[in-house]
Amino acid sequence: MTRELGTKITIMVLRSRSFLSVTSHKPSIDLLSHKSQGAMEHTVKKPIQRNAVLLQSQELYKYILETSVYPREPKPLKELRDASASHPTFFFGTSPDAGQLMAMLLKLVNAKKTIEIGVFTGYSLLLTALTIPDDGKIVAIDINRKTYEIGLPVIQKAGVEHKIDFIESAALPVLDRLLENKENEGSFEFAFVDADKENYKNYHERLMKLCKIGGIIVYDNTLWGGTVAWAEESVPEAKRQIRLSTIKFNEFLAADPRIDIKHQRTLKILVCWKAMELVMEKDEKAKMGLLQSDELYKYILETSVFPREPEPLKELREATASHPLAFLGTAPDAGQFIALLLKILNAKKTIEVLALDINRKSYELGLPYIKKAGVEHKIDFVESQALPVLDKLLEDKENEGSFDFAFVDADRVNFLNYHERLMKLLKIGGIVVYDNTLWGGTVVLPDPSLAPEPRRPDWKLAIEFNKALAVDPRIEISQATLGDGITVCRRLC
Ligand SMILES: C[S@@+](CC[C@H](N)C(=O)[O-])C[C@H]1O[C@@H](n2cnc3c(N)ncnc32)[C@H](O)[C@@H]1O
Repeated sequence: MTRELGTKITIMVLRSRSFLSVTSHKPSIDLLSHKSQGAMEHTVKKPIQRNAVLLQSQELYKYILETSVYPREPKPLKELRDASASHPTFFFGTSPDAGQLMAMLLKLVNAKKTIEIGVFTGYSLLLTALTIPDDGKIVAIDINRKTYEIGLPVIQKAGVEHKIDFIESAALPVLDRLLENKENEGSFEFAFVDADKENYKNYHERLMKLCKIGGIIVYDNTLWGGTVAWAEESVPEAKRQIRLSTIKFNEFLAADPRIDIKHQRTLKILVCWKAMELVMEKDEKAKMGLLQSDELYKYILETSVFPREPEPLKELREATASHPLAFLGTAPDAGQFIALLLKILNAKKTIEVLALDINRKSYELGLPYIKKAGVEHKIDFVESQALPVLDKLLEDKENEGSFDFAFVDADRVNFLNYHERLMKLLKIGGIVVYDNTLWGGTVVLPDPSLAPEPRRPDWKLAIEFNKALAVDPRIEISQATLGDGITVCRRLC
Protein backbone atom coordinates (compact mmCIF):
# COMPACT_ATOMS: atom_id res chain seq x y z
CA MET A 1 0.00 0.00 0.00
CA THR A 2 1.41 3.34 -0.97
CA ARG A 3 0.20 4.99 2.21
CA GLU A 4 2.54 2.81 4.24
CA LEU A 5 5.58 4.15 2.49
CA GLY A 6 6.74 6.14 5.48
CA THR A 7 7.14 3.13 7.66
CA LYS A 8 7.72 0.06 5.54
CA ILE A 9 8.38 0.36 1.89
CA THR A 10 11.94 0.53 0.61
CA ILE A 11 12.37 2.77 -2.39
CA MET A 12 15.41 2.69 -4.57
CA VAL A 13 16.29 6.20 -5.42
CA LEU A 14 18.09 6.98 -8.57
CA ARG A 15 17.50 10.57 -9.38
CA SER A 16 20.05 12.18 -7.15
CA ARG A 17 22.94 10.99 -9.25
CA SER A 18 23.35 8.23 -6.72
CA PHE A 19 21.32 5.43 -5.32
CA LEU A 20 19.66 5.93 -2.01
CA SER A 21 17.80 3.29 -0.15
CA VAL A 22 14.96 4.97 1.67
CA THR A 23 13.32 3.06 4.44
CA SER A 24 11.47 5.68 6.40
CA HIS A 25 10.81 9.38 6.64
CA LYS A 26 14.03 9.76 8.52
CA PRO A 27 15.91 7.18 6.59
CA SER A 28 18.98 5.48 7.77
CA ILE A 29 20.77 4.79 4.53
CA ASP A 30 23.98 3.26 3.46
CA LEU A 31 24.93 4.27 -0.03
CA LEU A 32 27.62 1.71 -0.39
CA SER A 33 25.89 -1.24 1.17
CA HIS A 34 25.52 -4.47 -0.75
CA LYS A 35 21.82 -3.92 -0.57
CA SER A 36 22.14 -0.68 -2.46
CA GLN A 37 24.43 -2.17 -5.04
CA GLY A 38 22.17 -5.13 -5.57
CA ALA A 39 19.28 -2.81 -6.02
CA MET A 40 21.31 -0.79 -8.47
CA GLU A 41 21.75 -3.81 -10.71
CA HIS A 42 18.08 -4.49 -10.43
CA THR A 43 17.27 -0.92 -11.32
CA VAL A 44 19.55 -0.82 -14.33
CA LYS A 45 17.24 -3.42 -15.80
CA LYS A 46 14.20 -1.36 -14.87
CA PRO A 47 15.06 2.27 -15.53
CA ILE A 48 11.48 3.28 -14.89
CA GLN A 49 12.33 3.22 -11.20
CA ARG A 50 14.56 6.24 -11.36
CA ASN A 51 13.56 9.54 -9.88
CA ALA A 52 10.83 8.14 -7.73
CA VAL A 53 12.48 9.10 -4.48
CA LEU A 54 10.51 12.29 -4.13
CA LEU A 55 7.17 10.62 -4.63
CA GLN A 56 5.14 8.54 -2.27
CA SER A 57 5.63 5.37 -4.33
CA GLN A 58 7.30 3.86 -7.38
CA GLU A 59 3.85 3.03 -8.68
CA LEU A 60 2.85 6.68 -8.77
CA TYR A 61 5.90 7.64 -10.77
CA LYS A 62 5.27 4.73 -13.13
CA TYR A 63 1.67 5.85 -13.52
CA ILE A 64 2.72 9.38 -14.48
CA LEU A 65 5.27 8.15 -16.99
CA GLU A 66 3.03 5.55 -18.56
CA THR A 67 -0.15 7.63 -18.64
CA SER A 68 0.99 11.12 -19.49
CA VAL A 69 4.63 11.10 -20.52
CA TYR A 70 5.71 8.10 -22.62
CA PRO A 71 2.70 8.18 -24.96
CA ARG A 72 3.64 11.76 -25.89
CA GLU A 73 7.44 11.47 -25.85
CA PRO A 74 8.93 12.31 -29.28
CA LYS A 75 10.45 9.22 -30.92
CA PRO A 76 14.04 10.55 -31.03
CA LEU A 77 13.96 11.15 -27.28
CA LYS A 78 12.86 7.60 -26.66
CA GLU A 79 15.64 6.38 -28.93
CA LEU A 80 18.18 8.45 -27.01
CA ARG A 81 16.86 7.12 -23.71
CA ASP A 82 17.19 3.57 -25.02
CA ALA A 83 20.71 4.28 -26.32
CA SER A 84 21.71 5.52 -22.85
CA ALA A 85 20.01 2.77 -20.84
CA SER A 86 22.99 0.45 -20.68
CA HIS A 87 25.41 3.21 -19.59
CA PRO A 88 26.51 2.68 -15.96
CA THR A 89 25.25 6.16 -15.03
CA PHE A 90 22.13 6.11 -17.24
CA PHE A 91 20.27 7.67 -14.32
CA PHE A 92 22.09 10.98 -14.97
CA GLY A 93 19.64 11.59 -17.80
CA THR A 94 16.88 14.12 -17.25
CA SER A 95 13.67 12.35 -16.33
CA PRO A 96 11.12 12.34 -19.13
CA ASP A 97 8.43 13.94 -16.95
CA ALA A 98 10.73 16.86 -16.11
CA GLY A 99 11.61 16.98 -19.81
CA GLN A 100 7.96 17.30 -20.76
CA LEU A 101 7.56 20.33 -18.53
CA MET A 102 10.80 21.83 -19.82
CA ALA A 103 9.61 21.52 -23.40
CA MET A 104 6.45 23.41 -22.49
CA LEU A 105 8.42 26.17 -20.74
CA LEU A 106 10.76 26.48 -23.73
CA LYS A 107 7.73 27.06 -25.95
CA LEU A 108 6.10 29.46 -23.54
CA VAL A 109 9.13 31.77 -23.54
CA ASN A 110 9.64 31.29 -27.29
CA ALA A 111 13.18 30.18 -26.54
CA LYS A 112 15.62 30.54 -29.42
CA LYS A 113 18.94 30.91 -27.63
CA THR A 114 19.62 28.63 -24.69
CA ILE A 115 22.41 27.37 -22.44
CA GLU A 116 22.74 23.87 -21.10
CA ILE A 117 25.21 22.99 -18.35
CA GLY A 118 25.61 19.22 -18.06
CA VAL A 119 24.85 17.32 -21.26
CA PHE A 120 25.69 13.68 -20.45
CA THR A 121 24.24 11.65 -23.38
CA GLY A 122 21.97 14.53 -24.37
CA TYR A 123 18.38 13.84 -23.32
CA SER A 124 17.62 17.41 -22.22
CA LEU A 125 19.79 18.73 -25.04
CA LEU A 126 17.90 16.83 -27.73
CA LEU A 127 14.63 17.82 -26.10
CA THR A 128 15.68 21.47 -26.31
CA ALA A 129 16.91 21.10 -29.87
CA LEU A 130 13.63 19.51 -30.94
CA THR A 131 11.64 22.29 -29.29
CA ILE A 132 13.36 25.53 -30.34
CA PRO A 133 13.02 26.86 -33.89
CA ASP A 134 15.23 25.75 -36.76
CA ASP A 135 17.50 28.80 -36.43
CA GLY A 136 17.71 28.44 -32.63
CA LYS A 137 21.05 27.87 -30.85
CA ILE A 138 22.07 25.92 -27.76
CA VAL A 139 25.41 26.44 -26.03
CA ALA A 140 25.87 22.99 -24.53
CA ILE A 141 28.68 22.49 -22.04
CA ASP A 142 30.05 19.30 -20.54
CA ILE A 143 33.47 18.21 -19.33
CA ASN A 144 32.98 14.90 -21.09
CA ARG A 145 32.47 14.66 -24.85
CA LYS A 146 32.44 10.87 -24.80
CA THR A 147 29.01 10.62 -23.22
CA TYR A 148 27.68 13.27 -25.62
CA GLU A 149 28.84 11.05 -28.46
CA ILE A 150 26.59 8.23 -27.25
CA GLY A 151 23.53 10.33 -28.05
CA LEU A 152 25.00 12.17 -31.04
CA PRO A 153 23.87 9.69 -33.73
CA VAL A 154 20.28 10.06 -32.51
CA ILE A 155 20.64 13.87 -32.50
CA GLN A 156 22.03 13.75 -36.05
CA LYS A 157 19.27 11.43 -37.23
CA ALA A 158 16.69 13.82 -35.79
CA GLY A 159 18.20 16.58 -37.95
CA VAL A 160 18.84 19.06 -35.13
CA GLU A 161 22.64 18.93 -34.68
CA HIS A 162 23.04 22.30 -36.42
CA LYS A 163 21.35 24.01 -33.45
CA ILE A 164 23.96 22.71 -30.99
CA ASP A 165 27.28 24.28 -30.12
CA PHE A 166 28.84 21.60 -27.93
CA ILE A 167 31.77 22.80 -25.81
CA GLU A 168 33.89 20.25 -23.97
CA SER A 169 34.91 22.18 -20.89
CA ALA A 170 34.08 23.00 -17.31
CA ALA A 171 31.10 25.36 -17.47
CA LEU A 172 32.34 28.33 -15.44
CA PRO A 173 35.10 29.54 -17.81
CA VAL A 174 32.72 29.13 -20.78
CA LEU A 175 30.11 31.34 -19.11
CA ASP A 176 32.82 33.89 -18.30
CA ARG A 177 33.96 33.85 -21.90
CA LEU A 178 30.41 34.38 -23.11
CA LEU A 179 30.18 37.38 -20.82
CA GLU A 180 33.30 38.95 -22.35
CA ASN A 181 31.15 39.66 -25.40
CA LYS A 182 28.64 42.35 -24.39
CA GLU A 183 26.25 41.15 -27.10
CA ASN A 184 25.59 38.01 -25.11
CA GLU A 185 24.29 39.91 -22.10
CA GLY A 186 20.54 39.46 -21.69
CA SER A 187 20.38 37.45 -24.89
CA PHE A 188 19.38 33.94 -23.72
CA GLU A 189 15.76 33.01 -23.09
CA PHE A 190 16.40 29.77 -21.27
CA ALA A 191 19.08 27.92 -19.33
CA PHE A 192 19.15 24.45 -17.84
CA VAL A 193 21.69 23.73 -15.11
CA ASP A 194 22.22 20.05 -14.45
CA ALA A 195 25.85 19.59 -13.34
CA ASP A 196 28.30 20.42 -10.63
CA LYS A 197 25.90 21.38 -7.86
CA GLU A 198 28.55 23.08 -5.76
CA ASN A 199 28.89 25.78 -8.39
CA TYR A 200 25.16 26.48 -8.75
CA LYS A 201 25.51 29.90 -7.10
CA ASN A 202 28.40 30.82 -9.41
CA TYR A 203 26.37 29.73 -12.43
CA HIS A 204 23.43 31.70 -11.14
CA GLU A 205 25.43 34.95 -11.00
CA ARG A 206 26.61 34.49 -14.60
CA LEU A 207 23.19 33.39 -15.87
CA MET A 208 21.54 36.42 -14.28
CA LYS A 209 23.60 38.48 -16.71
CA LEU A 210 23.28 36.19 -19.72
CA CYS A 211 19.52 35.59 -19.52
CA LYS A 212 16.87 38.01 -20.72
CA ILE A 213 14.50 39.62 -18.26
CA GLY A 214 11.54 37.29 -18.39
CA GLY A 215 13.79 34.35 -19.28
CA ILE A 216 13.78 31.10 -17.35
CA ILE A 217 16.53 29.18 -15.63
CA VAL A 218 15.81 25.67 -14.48
CA TYR A 219 18.03 24.14 -11.81
CA ASP A 220 17.81 20.40 -11.53
CA ASN A 221 17.97 18.34 -8.38
CA THR A 222 17.31 21.14 -5.94
CA LEU A 223 15.79 18.78 -3.40
CA TRP A 224 18.79 16.44 -3.58
CA GLY A 225 16.72 13.32 -3.50
CA GLY A 226 14.67 14.68 -0.60
CA THR A 227 17.70 14.74 1.72
CA VAL A 228 17.33 18.50 2.19
CA ALA A 229 14.52 17.69 4.60
CA TRP A 230 16.31 14.90 6.49
CA ALA A 231 18.22 15.20 9.72
CA GLU A 232 21.90 15.51 8.83
CA GLU A 233 22.86 12.34 10.69
CA SER A 234 20.48 10.33 8.47
CA VAL A 235 22.33 11.39 5.34
CA PRO A 236 25.35 9.33 4.23
CA GLU A 237 28.65 11.15 4.80
CA ALA A 238 29.37 11.22 1.08
CA LYS A 239 26.19 13.16 0.39
CA ARG A 240 26.39 15.70 3.20
CA GLN A 241 28.51 18.34 1.51
CA ILE A 242 26.27 18.61 -1.53
CA ARG A 243 23.18 18.48 0.65
CA LEU A 244 24.47 21.50 2.54
CA SER A 245 25.32 23.44 -0.62
CA THR A 246 21.86 22.62 -1.96
CA ILE A 247 20.18 23.87 1.20
CA LYS A 248 22.22 27.08 1.05
CA PHE A 249 21.46 27.52 -2.66
CA ASN A 250 17.72 27.10 -2.08
CA GLU A 251 17.81 29.69 0.71
CA PHE A 252 19.81 32.01 -1.49
CA LEU A 253 17.35 31.72 -4.39
CA ALA A 254 14.37 32.21 -2.10
CA ALA A 255 15.82 35.56 -1.02
CA ASP A 256 17.21 36.75 -4.37
CA PRO A 257 15.35 39.96 -5.23
CA ARG A 258 16.43 39.83 -8.88
CA ILE A 259 14.04 37.00 -9.40
CA ASP A 260 11.14 38.57 -7.60
CA ILE A 261 8.28 38.04 -10.02
CA LYS A 262 6.59 41.21 -8.78
CA HIS A 263 9.46 43.31 -10.06
CA GLN A 264 9.13 41.65 -13.43
CA ARG A 265 12.80 40.95 -13.53
CA THR A 266 14.08 37.56 -14.52
CA LEU A 267 11.56 34.88 -13.77
CA LYS A 268 13.04 31.80 -12.37
CA ILE A 269 11.76 28.48 -11.34
CA LEU A 270 13.46 26.69 -8.60
CA VAL A 271 12.70 23.26 -9.85
CA CYS A 272 10.29 21.63 -7.52
CA TRP A 273 8.75 19.26 -9.99
CA LYS A 274 7.95 17.09 -7.06
CA ALA A 275 5.94 18.99 -4.56
CA MET A 276 2.88 17.77 -2.77
CA GLU A 277 -0.46 18.95 -1.59
CA LEU A 278 -1.06 21.04 1.46
CA VAL A 279 -2.84 18.29 3.26
CA MET A 280 -5.51 19.31 5.66
CA GLU A 281 -7.94 16.49 5.16
CA LYS A 282 -9.33 14.99 8.28
CA ASP A 283 -8.78 11.42 7.22
CA GLU A 284 -5.49 10.48 8.86
CA LYS A 285 -4.62 8.14 6.00
CA ALA A 286 -4.99 10.95 3.52
CA LYS A 287 -2.38 13.04 5.28
CA MET A 288 0.40 11.75 3.12
CA GLY A 289 0.57 13.69 -0.13
CA LEU A 290 2.40 12.91 -3.30
CA LEU A 291 5.86 13.23 -1.84
CA GLN A 292 7.99 10.85 0.18
CA SER A 293 7.31 12.67 3.45
CA ASP A 294 5.46 15.53 5.07
CA GLU A 295 8.86 16.90 6.10
CA LEU A 296 9.89 17.31 2.49
CA TYR A 297 6.70 19.17 1.67
CA LYS A 298 7.20 21.39 4.71
CA TYR A 299 10.74 22.08 3.52
CA ILE A 300 9.51 23.18 0.09
CA LEU A 301 6.84 25.41 1.55
CA GLU A 302 9.06 26.98 4.17
CA THR A 303 12.12 27.46 1.98
CA SER A 304 10.77 28.41 -1.41
CA VAL A 305 7.06 29.13 -1.22
CA PHE A 306 6.05 30.96 1.99
CA PRO A 307 8.93 33.48 1.95
CA ARG A 308 7.76 34.59 -1.52
CA GLU A 309 4.03 34.35 -0.98
CA PRO A 310 2.38 37.76 -1.49
CA GLU A 311 1.01 39.14 1.79
CA PRO A 312 -2.67 39.16 0.64
CA LEU A 313 -2.43 35.47 -0.26
CA LYS A 314 -0.95 34.67 3.12
CA GLU A 315 -3.74 36.60 4.83
CA LEU A 316 -6.39 34.83 2.77
CA ARG A 317 -4.82 31.44 3.48
CA GLU A 318 -4.78 32.15 7.20
CA ALA A 319 -8.38 33.38 7.15
CA THR A 320 -9.46 30.20 5.38
CA ALA A 321 -7.48 27.84 7.60
CA SER A 322 -10.22 27.41 10.19
CA HIS A 323 -12.92 26.72 7.58
CA PRO A 324 -14.03 23.05 7.65
CA LEU A 325 -13.35 22.80 3.93
CA ALA A 326 -10.01 24.59 4.09
CA PHE A 327 -8.37 21.69 2.29
CA LEU A 328 -10.22 22.70 -0.87
CA GLY A 329 -7.93 25.72 -1.18
CA THR A 330 -5.25 25.53 -3.86
CA ALA A 331 -1.94 24.38 -2.43
CA PRO A 332 0.50 27.31 -2.15
CA ASP A 333 3.21 25.50 -4.11
CA ALA A 334 0.78 24.86 -6.96
CA GLY A 335 -0.26 28.51 -6.65
CA GLN A 336 3.33 29.67 -7.01
CA PHE A 337 3.67 27.70 -10.19
CA ILE A 338 0.36 28.97 -11.57
CA ALA A 339 1.49 32.56 -10.88
CA LEU A 340 4.65 31.86 -12.84
CA LEU A 341 2.63 30.52 -15.77
CA LEU A 342 0.34 33.55 -15.70
CA LYS A 343 3.35 35.88 -15.85
CA ILE A 344 5.01 33.96 -18.66
CA LEU A 345 1.78 34.06 -20.63
CA ASN A 346 1.21 37.75 -19.87
CA ALA A 347 -2.28 36.55 -19.06
CA LYS A 348 -4.95 39.23 -19.06
CA LYS A 349 -8.19 37.35 -19.52
CA THR A 350 -8.62 34.22 -17.47
CA ILE A 351 -11.47 31.93 -16.57
CA GLU A 352 -10.11 31.56 -13.08
CA VAL A 353 -10.80 35.21 -12.48
CA LEU A 354 -14.40 34.59 -13.48
CA ALA A 355 -14.43 32.37 -10.40
CA LEU A 356 -17.12 29.94 -11.36
CA ASP A 357 -18.10 28.76 -7.94
CA ILE A 358 -21.56 27.62 -6.93
CA ASN A 359 -21.10 28.88 -3.42
CA ARG A 360 -20.84 32.61 -2.89
CA LYS A 361 -20.52 32.22 0.88
CA SER A 362 -17.07 30.68 0.74
CA TYR A 363 -16.01 33.34 -1.75
CA GLU A 364 -17.17 36.00 0.70
CA LEU A 365 -14.83 34.62 3.32
CA GLY A 366 -11.90 35.63 1.18
CA LEU A 367 -13.48 38.74 -0.30
CA PRO A 368 -12.25 41.24 2.33
CA TYR A 369 -8.67 40.19 1.55
CA ILE A 370 -9.30 40.47 -2.18
CA LYS A 371 -10.72 43.97 -1.63
CA LYS A 372 -7.86 44.95 0.63
CA ALA A 373 -5.42 43.85 -2.06
CA GLY A 374 -7.19 46.20 -4.48
CA VAL A 375 -7.90 43.57 -7.12
CA GLU A 376 -11.65 43.03 -6.82
CA HIS A 377 -12.28 45.03 -10.00
CA LYS A 378 -10.57 42.29 -11.99
CA ILE A 379 -12.97 39.64 -10.76
CA ASP A 380 -16.34 38.84 -12.25
CA PHE A 381 -17.73 36.38 -9.71
CA VAL A 382 -20.60 34.30 -11.05
CA GLU A 383 -22.57 32.24 -8.55
CA SER A 384 -23.66 29.38 -10.76
CA GLN A 385 -22.90 25.94 -12.06
CA ALA A 386 -19.91 26.46 -14.33
CA LEU A 387 -21.15 24.66 -17.44
CA PRO A 388 -24.01 27.04 -18.37
CA VAL A 389 -21.69 30.00 -17.77
CA LEU A 390 -19.12 28.59 -20.18
CA ASP A 391 -21.87 27.89 -22.71
CA LYS A 392 -23.13 31.44 -22.37
CA LEU A 393 -19.63 32.76 -22.94
CA LEU A 394 -19.47 30.69 -26.10
CA GLU A 395 -22.67 32.24 -27.43
CA ASP A 396 -20.66 35.41 -27.99
CA LYS A 397 -18.25 34.65 -30.85
CA GLU A 398 -15.87 37.30 -29.55
CA ASN A 399 -15.06 35.13 -26.57
CA GLU A 400 -13.79 32.30 -28.76
CA GLY A 401 -10.01 31.99 -28.53
CA SER A 402 -9.87 35.04 -26.29
CA PHE A 403 -8.78 33.64 -22.91
CA ASP A 404 -5.13 33.26 -21.97
CA PHE A 405 -5.56 30.99 -18.99
CA ALA A 406 -8.04 28.81 -17.14
CA PHE A 407 -7.89 26.98 -13.85
CA VAL A 408 -10.33 24.15 -13.21
CA ASP A 409 -10.63 23.03 -9.64
CA ALA A 410 -14.20 21.88 -9.07
CA ASP A 411 -16.79 19.35 -10.10
CA ARG A 412 -14.75 16.48 -11.50
CA VAL A 413 -17.80 14.90 -13.13
CA ASN A 414 -17.73 17.74 -15.63
CA PHE A 415 -13.98 18.02 -16.24
CA LEU A 416 -14.28 16.64 -19.77
CA ASN A 417 -17.20 18.96 -20.51
CA TYR A 418 -15.20 21.94 -19.25
CA HIS A 419 -12.28 20.81 -21.34
CA GLU A 420 -14.35 20.83 -24.52
CA ARG A 421 -15.61 24.35 -23.86
CA LEU A 422 -12.18 25.61 -22.82
CA MET A 423 -10.64 24.29 -26.00
CA LYS A 424 -12.82 26.84 -27.76
CA LEU A 425 -12.49 29.68 -25.27
CA LEU A 426 -8.71 29.54 -24.87
CA LYS A 427 -6.29 31.17 -27.27
CA ILE A 428 -3.97 28.90 -29.20
CA GLY A 429 -0.94 28.85 -26.92
CA GLY A 430 -3.19 29.48 -23.91
CA ILE A 431 -3.07 27.27 -20.85
CA VAL A 432 -5.60 25.39 -18.79
CA VAL A 433 -4.52 23.89 -15.47
CA TYR A 434 -6.60 21.06 -14.01
CA ASP A 435 -6.20 20.49 -10.31
CA ASN A 436 -6.13 17.24 -8.35
CA THR A 437 -5.40 15.06 -11.34
CA LEU A 438 -3.45 12.47 -9.36
CA TRP A 439 -6.19 12.35 -6.79
CA GLY A 440 -3.77 12.29 -3.87
CA GLY A 441 -1.79 9.52 -5.57
CA THR A 442 -4.74 7.11 -5.41
CA VAL A 443 -4.93 6.80 -9.21
CA VAL A 444 -2.40 3.97 -8.96
CA LEU A 445 -4.55 1.84 -6.68
CA PRO A 446 -6.10 -1.25 -8.26
CA ASP A 447 -9.43 -0.57 -6.60
CA PRO A 448 -11.10 2.58 -5.21
CA SER A 449 -12.06 0.76 -2.00
CA LEU A 450 -8.36 0.97 -1.05
CA ALA A 451 -8.44 4.76 -1.25
CA PRO A 452 -9.42 6.97 1.69
CA GLU A 453 -13.19 7.32 1.79
CA PRO A 454 -13.40 10.91 0.46
CA ARG A 455 -11.39 9.90 -2.60
CA ARG A 456 -13.58 6.97 -3.64
CA PRO A 457 -16.51 8.54 -5.51
CA ASP A 458 -14.40 10.41 -8.09
CA TRP A 459 -11.51 7.95 -8.30
CA LYS A 460 -12.53 6.49 -11.66
CA LEU A 461 -13.27 9.92 -13.10
CA ALA A 462 -9.73 11.10 -12.28
CA ILE A 463 -8.23 8.08 -14.07
CA GLU A 464 -10.46 8.48 -17.12
CA PHE A 465 -9.74 12.18 -17.34
CA ASN A 466 -5.97 11.59 -17.32
CA LYS A 467 -6.35 9.05 -20.11
CA ALA A 468 -8.41 11.47 -22.17
CA LEU A 469 -5.88 14.30 -21.79
CA ALA A 470 -2.99 11.99 -22.66
CA VAL A 471 -4.38 11.31 -26.14
CA ASP A 472 -5.90 14.70 -26.93
CA PRO A 473 -4.03 16.01 -30.01
CA ARG A 474 -5.24 19.59 -29.46
CA ILE A 475 -2.96 20.06 -26.47
CA GLU A 476 0.49 19.39 -25.08
CA ILE A 477 0.54 18.47 -21.41
CA SER A 478 2.71 18.33 -18.35
CA GLN A 479 1.65 16.28 -15.36
CA ALA A 480 3.26 18.04 -12.39
CA THR A 481 3.28 16.59 -8.90
CA LEU A 482 2.26 19.82 -7.24
CA GLY A 483 -0.76 19.78 -5.00
CA ASP A 484 -2.75 16.63 -5.64
CA GLY A 485 -1.16 16.63 -9.04
CA ILE A 486 -1.90 19.38 -11.53
CA THR A 487 -2.06 18.84 -15.26
CA VAL A 488 -0.93 21.81 -17.30
CA CYS A 489 -2.38 21.77 -20.84
CA ARG A 490 -1.28 24.16 -23.56
CA ARG A 491 -3.64 24.56 -26.50
CA LEU A 492 -1.88 23.75 -29.77
CA CYS A 493 -4.63 24.10 -32.33
C1 LIG B 1 23.41 14.88 -14.56
S1 LIG B 1 24.40 14.85 -15.94
C2 LIG B 1 23.51 15.79 -17.08
C3 LIG B 1 22.31 15.08 -17.64
C4 LIG B 1 21.74 15.70 -18.88
N1 LIG B 1 21.13 16.98 -18.61
C5 LIG B 1 20.72 14.77 -19.51
O1 LIG B 1 19.56 15.11 -19.68
O2 LIG B 1 21.11 13.65 -19.86
C6 LIG B 1 25.71 15.84 -15.43
C7 LIG B 1 26.78 16.07 -16.48
O3 LIG B 1 27.55 17.18 -16.03
C8 LIG B 1 28.89 17.01 -16.44
N2 LIG B 1 29.71 17.89 -15.57
C9 LIG B 1 30.16 17.66 -14.33
N3 LIG B 1 30.85 18.72 -13.86
C10 LIG B 1 30.80 19.66 -14.83
C11 LIG B 1 31.29 20.97 -14.96
N4 LIG B 1 31.98 21.55 -13.98
N5 LIG B 1 31.06 21.66 -16.08
C12 LIG B 1 30.35 21.09 -17.10
N6 LIG B 1 29.87 19.84 -17.04
C13 LIG B 1 30.09 19.13 -15.93
C14 LIG B 1 29.14 15.53 -16.31
O4 LIG B 1 30.17 15.12 -17.18
C15 LIG B 1 27.76 14.93 -16.68
O5 LIG B 1 27.72 14.52 -18.02
